[in-house]
Amino acid sequence: MDSDTLLARITDYTSRPNPYPLYAELREAGPVVRQADGGYLIGTYHEISALLHDPRMSADPRTRTTPSLSEETPKPPFLRLDDPEHHRLRTLAMRPFGPPHSPGRVDAMRGEIAHITGELIEALRDREQIDVVDDFAYPLPITVICRLMGVPREDESLFQRWTDAIVASADIGPGEDTTERNKAAMQARQEMGRYLVNLAEQRRDRPTGDMLSDFINEPDLALRLTVEELAETAILLFIAGHETTVNLITNGVLTLLRQPDQLDRLRREPRLLPQAVEELLRYEPPVHMRERIPLADIDVAGTTIPKGTSVVLALASGSRDPKPFHEPDRFDPTRPDNQHFGFGSGIHLCYGAPLARIEAEAALGALIPRLGTARLVQDPPPYRQNAMLRGPRHLPIHL
Ligand code: HEM
Repeated sequence: MDSDTLLARITDYTSRPNPYPLYAELREAGPVVRQADGGYLIGTYHEISALLHDPRMSADPRTRTTPSLSEETPKPPFLRLDDPEHHRLRTLAMRPFGPPHSPGRVDAMRGEIAHITGELIEALRDREQIDVVDDFAYPLPITVICRLMGVPREDESLFQRWTDAIVASADIGPGEDTTERNKAAMQARQEMGRYLVNLAEQRRDRPTGDMLSDFINEPDLALRLTVEELAETAILLFIAGHETTVNLITNGVLTLLRQPDQLDRLRREPRLLPQAVEELLRYEPPVHMRERIPLADIDVAGTTIPKGTSVVLALASGSRDPKPFHEPDRFDPTRPDNQHFGFGSGIHLCYGAPLARIEAEAALGALIPRLGTARLVQDPPPYRQNAMLRGPRHLPIHL
């Protein structure tokens, strides 16, 4: 089959359960594969790494002159902005979240994350069948980010509802009418933004030790986000960290139930869990592809990619490239030097990675001892439509 239809075949829903043979085909046809729509697709480790670090590659969809895979908002969040604007917003957003200004904030959440996980597990007691997504993985990251931000507990369900609407708008099948879902997502974003700005205002001069209080009370006015930026940043943290973390936990359970020897090993050697999470980020990553756009004509491995063209970097393919990874299709929790693309690389490297790692370790650590006789009810499980953020919609298991 033609390699210039590879992206269409990878994103086709029938490939969702197992896109990895297509990624192998892509690396074989590559490194740079031109697509029928004029865009480019790249799946080899070395080229992806070089392009993620290349300042001539823009993350901003407004620099694109060719058609894209998805509709974009006119003003993107900093995930899709370039430096210097990206750097400014990322630096300000990092201040209440991580080092050097708030080095202990995420780590201090370990106890609370263990507690939330414990409550979710407790609610599953006496159940013979559960859905790992709906009953466990889905509620966890929203609850955690609400607590970090300082959202009162009685309002957490509002965030579940808003996130549902936003996630649903990214999960559109071919030919489906997107109007209603886009409208609902837009409304959810607006309501979430208004709520967060209001809450932040209540914390102005009356800080309560959470991220929203820190954002609004930043003493250096030059470093303070405007209220609009605050709302956008907070929404980005809710959305960027939600489905990704859900998928990592769900993919973890799926992988371990498919490989009972590895499940058994992790049960006997729980100290391997952090490495197992890294290996999951390589072997079954939540983020499969990211788009970049060259700001000038660039040469990649002998092919000139014109300025303004959509370039899709298949991160999940790069993380299965046999050049840097020995036996890449094997799930090996003791794999040394695991420099995967699970959290991206370069200036947009995932900002929430330390939190995601703690959540995944807590979730899998709590579930693994309970998976002794568990089995998958359906394999492969039903997947979400989204090919870029790939993960099961449901994962029913029999305990
Ligand atoms: C398993 C969970 C997660 C995965 C797999 C993941 C993956 C990624 C990836 C691949 C990128 C790079 C995107 C690019 O280069 O275009 C990214 C960026 C980002 N992630 Fe995550 N993420 C996860 C969890 C989180 C969490 C929990 C948060 C927030 C609390 C978060 C916030 C962000 C933000 C703000 C960016 C943009 C960084 C920038 O543009 O400078 N992520 N993530």
